[in-house]
Amino acid sequence: MNIITVTDYQAMSDWACQHLIKRINELEQPVLGLATGSTPEGMYSSLINAYQNKQISFENVISFNLDEYVGLPSDDHNSYNYFMHDKLFNHIDIKGKNAHLPNGIASSPDQECQDYEKLITQTNGIDLQILGIGLNGHIGFNEPGTPFSSRTHVVELDDLTREANARFFASKDDVPTHAITMGIATIMESKEIILLISGENKAEALKQLIESDVTEDFPASILQKHPNLTIVADEAAAHSLV
Ligand code: F6R
Repeated sequence: MNIITVTDYQAMSDWACQHLIKRINELEQPVLGLATGSTPEGMYSSLINAYQNKQISFENVISFNLDEYVGLPSDDHNSYNYFMHDKLFNHIDIKGKNAHLPNGIASSPDQECQDYEKLITQTNGIDLQILGIGLNGHIGFNEPGTPFSSRTHVVELDDLTREANARFFASKDDVPTHAITMGIATIMESKEIILLISGENKAEALKQLIESDVTEDFPASILQKHPNLTIVADEAAAHSLV
C-alpha cells in the first residue's frame, strides 16, 4: 500500500483529480468506480475545471458508482444518482449510457444487484476505484460484519451511518434504512484503488485501516491485501499515524 499525505482537503482533491486525468488519458476505455459523499466532492469540482480547461474528456469513460439508497428515485435530491449528476455528470461530456448507478427503485432490488454485478463483469471490471471510508470502516455501504466474499447486494444501513448521513436529510428518520452497494469482493477486484480520507474525525478510521488485523468487523481493513492501493490522506486525517 502506498500512503500519500497532503496538506489539506483541496490538495487531496487536486491529487486525485490529476491521478484520474492521467489514468483516463492512458486507457483506451477507462472504467472508473466512483463514490459519493463529502470526500470526493472537491475532486469532482477539480475534474469539472479540468474538463472546462480542455485538459480532459470523459467521452470514452465508463463509470460505476459504488452505491445507492433503496427507495429514492433518481430525481430525489438525496439520491446518489442526483448527487452524481449535480456534482459531476451534468458538467462533463460523459455519455449518459456509460454512467451507471444501481437503481434504487428497482422492482426487485436483488435482481438489480445481480444485473449491476454482471454489467461490471461484462465491462471487464473496474480499472480505477475511488473510495471514501465511513467512521465505522465501511467502504461502499459494506457495514461491519459484511463478508469479504460479498458481491453487489442490498444492505441494512448501520445506525452510525444513518446518523452520519442525516446531515443531508431533514432528520435521521428520513435517511433510508437500506441501500444497494457493490460488495467487498467486487471492490477488491478493481485493478487499482485510491482511497481518499480527510479530516480529524477520520483519523481513527485511517489508523485502524492501516494497523488493525484484517477483519470483517472493520471492512476497510481488507484493503491491506489489495495489490494496488493508494491512500491519499490530508494532515488532519493522518496526524495519528506514526
Ligand atoms: C459513498 C460511499 C461511502 C462514503 C463514506 C464516507 O458512495 O460509498 O462509503 O465514502 O460513507 O462518506 P463521506 O465522504 O461523506 O465522509
